[in-house]
Amino acid sequence: MNKLIVSLLLTVGISGVAHAAGDATAGQAKAAVCGACHGPDGNSMAPNFPKLAGQGERYLNKQLHDIKSGKRTVLEMTGLLTNLSDQDLADISAYFASQKGSVGAADPKVVARGEALFRGGDLTKGLPACTGCHSPDGKGNAAAGFPHLGGQHAQYIAKQLTDFRKEEGGRANDGDTKTMQTIAKRLSDEDIAAVSSYIQGLH
Ligand code: HEC
Ligand code: HEC
Repeated sequence: MNKLIVSLLLTVGISGVAHAAGDATAGQAKAAVCGACHGPDGNSMAPNFPKLAGQGERYLNKQLHDIKSGKRTVLEMTGLLTNLSDQDLADISAYFASQKGSVGAADPKVVARGEALFRGGDLTKGLPACTGCHSPDGKGNAAAGFPHLGGQHAQYIAKQLTDFRKEEGGRANDGDTKTMQTIAKRLSDEDIAAVSSYIQGLH
């Protein structure tokens, strides 16, 4: 493991905010309004709406707090979280985390390049392997808050990587270490297309 990953792992691991424990059963009813876009069980059909099923609870809870506070801009969700309490957000996170995520298919034309990047990174660009944090099967690391990626829509993944890469107006809710912003700046458009397609079929 290279130095970048080790220092990032350490910082990300200890900088998490403590949140109330979630109740998945209570969360199911509270998540009804989310189903229109994300699917009732969190397996969305539309490629621009992320799947939430099987995503790590800690990661979901962080995103919900970031979206609610405006640290992460999601126009489609404007106002939706305003009246939800910390307990509501924790319950909803527990509900989607308890669901089983579905898997898509990778584009055979780019899968080899995507797999090489995901598993090996690119030494010449100082790019760490994605597996170091998101795990070889794409499950992530729920306890550390590293998101589950496997099976996620390629279009959504590509948009996130492009947003992380932007200097301004992109996705800035990346924790204090700016892990993904640093990594995304080292990815070309072709890298992003290939690794996103690979992730869609990964399980
Ligand atoms: C009108 C459609 C819509 C509705 C309704 C909606 N969302 Fe979203 N949500 C989105 C979109 C679009 C994104 C991704 C935005 C982007 O590209 O960054 C998103 C992103 C998210 C994310 C971040 C996922 C990730 O992998 O980082 C979470 C968590 C989330 N929504 C939870 C919810 C919850 C909980 C509700 C219900 C209270 C909800 N959403 C309702 C459209 C919607
Ligand atoms: C050192 C750890 C680390 C490495 C290595 C890493 N990531 Fe991440 N990744 C993270 C963390 C932490 C987040 C969540 C950031 C946040 O809290 O918003 C994340 C988020 C993401 C997201 C957003 C997921 C979503 O649901 O919105 C994508 C996509 C992603 N990473 C792809 C990659 C790819 C592709 C690679 C390899 C090129 C990679 N990551 C390497 C730690 C890492």
